[in-house]
Amino acid sequence: MKTSIIYNSHSGTTKAYAEEIGNFLSGNGIECRISSIDDYDKEYLLSSDLVMLGCWTSGLMIFAQHPERAWKKFVEEMPVIRKKTVALFTTYKIATGSMFRKMENILADKSDPPKAILKSRSKQLTDKNRSTLEVLINS
Ligand SMILES: Cc1cc2nc3c(=O)[nH]c(=O)nc-3n(C[C@H](O)[C@H](O)[C@H](O)COP(=O)(O)O)c2cc1C
Repeated sequence: MKTSIIYNSHSGTTKAYAEEIGNFLSGNGIECRISSIDDYDKEYLLSSDLVMLGCWTSGLMIFAQHPERAWKKFVEEMPVIRKKTVALFTTYKIATGSMFRKMENILADKSDPPKAILKSRSKQLTDKNRSTLEVLINS
């Protein structure tokens, strides 16, 4: 299974989280490439089976969460990736609120609905994140 992990990070936490996700997948024998939204390989993305797209949570802390404009622009310029397994991830401090719903709406023209979401208040994978990833790679 080939995996593209593509993140948007403002101060580095989501980048580090993307790397943790990548380490977990590589440790389970999955080939993956981790890139920022500014520097990803379109050919590798198009040849990936699993696509993990991440963005830091922006909003008013307890409500109005949304992906950063740069992430929206990335999706608009991204090739269509239908028929691939897609998962979304974010890092946050208090609440993700509408974050995943907004990400999914923005993605709707480009991909099938995401099969999984992962979130963390730090760069660390939670136990729930690990089980979610195990289900994704074993399905
Ligand atoms: C302008 C701004 C808005 C934020 N809004 C939220 C929010 O609505 N909810 C939340 O839980 N965290 C919020 N955060 C915290 C970030 O989502 C969190 O620190 C995240 O891990 C940053 O990721 P990064 O280091 O990859 O940029 C906000 C941070 C900033 C700078």
